[in-house]
Amino acid sequence: MKKILITGGAGFIGSHVVRRFVTKYPNYQIYNLDALTYAGNLENIKDIEAAPNYTFVKGDIVDADFINSLFAIHNFDGVLHLAAESHVDRSISDPLAFVRTNVIGTMNLLNAAKNQWKNDFTDKLFYHISTDEVYGSLGAEGLFTETTAYDPNSPYSASKASSDHFVRAYGETYGLPYVLTNCSNNYGSYHFPEKLIPLFINNIIHNRPLPVYGDGNYTRDWLFVEDHAVAIDLVFHEGKNHETYNIGGFNEWKNIDLVKLLCQLMDQKLGRTEGTCAKLITYVKDRPGHDLRYAIDASKINTELGWKPSVTFEEGLERTISWYLDNTEWLDNITSGAYQSYYKDQYSV
Ligand code: NAD
Ligand code: TYD
Repeated sequence: MKKILITGGAGFIGSHVVRRFVTKYPNYQIYNLDALTYAGNLENIKDIEAAPNYTFVKGDIVDADFINSLFAIHNFDGVLHLAAESHVDRSISDPLAFVRTNVIGTMNLLNAAKNQWKNDFTDKLFYHISTDEVYGSLGAEGLFTETTAYDPNSPYSASKASSDHFVRAYGETYGLPYVLTNCSNNYGSYHFPEKLIPLFINNIIHNRPLPVYGDGNYTRDWLFVEDHAVAIDLVFHEGKNHETYNIGGFNEWKNIDLVKLLCQLMDQKLGRTEGTCAKLITYVKDRPGHDLRYAIDASKINTELGWKPSVTFEEGLERTISWYLDNTEWLDNITSGAYQSYYKDQYSV
C-alpha cells in the first residue's frame, strides 16, 4: 500500500484532489495534512472522512520539526503539495504570511522528502502544484508556455515563483524526483467566498454590491476544479520526472463579461427579472499591481498526456451556481465563521 501525503487537502482544490484519490485509489493510504487556516474547512471533505484509506493530520508546514517527524513516522512514497496562502489581495496586506507558508513551508517539505528518500528515490515523487500567475501579465496577445520566463508581480505570485524555483533546484542539485504544474484560475464547489466567482455568487444571494476592480477589463482563463483534479491525477501517475506542465481551460474571460454572464444565470436561477443582479455591479478602486491578462497554452499536457478539460464553461458555471444555491448552509457557516468550530466539535479538542 502506497502512502501519499496531500498538503492543503481541506482547501478548495485540495479537497477535490483528496476526494478523488481516496475514492479512486483504495490501495493508497492518503494523509491529508492541513493547518486549517481561515481557508481550510473540514466540511469540504466530510463525505470521505470515514474512508479506511484516509487520515487527517492537523499541522503547519512551516514547522520543520513537525514535518520531519511526520515523514519519519510515515515514510511517504509521494507528496502532492497544495497547501498555500492563495489570495492575491491578502498577499498585498500581509506578504510575510505568504513567504512563511509558500516558501518556507515548501522548503520544509522538500528537505523532509530529500532526507527521508535520499538513499533510494525509486518510485518516489514530489508533486508541486503551482499557478500561472508566476509568469506575470500578458498583453492582448500570446499565451504562457512552460518555457515562458517567470515574471511575478504580486507577493502571492512571487512566493509561488520562489517555491517553484526551489522545487527545480532540489531536482537538479539533489536528484529529488519532482513534477510541477502551473494552472490557471479554478472555479467550482467548495471555493472560499473571497475569490471572484464564489464571492459574487454569495453577494448576489444577499443582494450586496459586486465590487469589480478597476474597469473590469482584466482577463483570466477559467478551469473547472474537477478537471484540474483529473489533470493532477494524470500528472502524478504519468508525468515525466523533472517536467513542468501548464494546465488551463482554453477559456478566457474579461472579468466584466464573466460577471455579466454570472448575473444573467443568477437572475434565471433565482427567478429574478432579467437585469436585476447586474444592477449590483459596482466599479471599485483597482487592485495594486493588477495583472492584465493570464492565458495558458496547455498543449503540452494535451499532446503528451492526453488531458483536456471535459466541462464547458457554461456547464461548469451552471453546476457551480447550483452547488452554492444548494449549499447555502456551507456558505453561511463560512461567512459567520461557524465552520472553524467544526474541527473542535468533530475531534473534541
Ligand atoms: P485554498 O486557499 O483554498 O486552500 C489552501 C489550504 O492550505 C487550506 O486548507 C489551508 O488551511 C492550507 N494551509 C495554508 N497554510 C498552511 C500551512 N502553513 N500548513 C498547512 N496547511 C496550510 O487554496 P486553493 O485555491 O485550493 O489552492 C491550492 C493550491 O493550488 C495552492 O498551492 C495554489 O497556489 C494553487 N493554485 C490555485 C489556483 C486557484 O485558482 N485557486 C490556481 C492555480 C494554482
Ligand atoms: P481572484 O478570484 O482573486 O483570482 P486571481 O487574482 O488569482 O486571478 O480574482 C480574479 C479576477 O477578478 C482578478 O482580475 C481580480 C478580479 N476581482 C474583482 O474584480 N473583484 C473582486 O472582488 C475580486 C475578489 C476579484
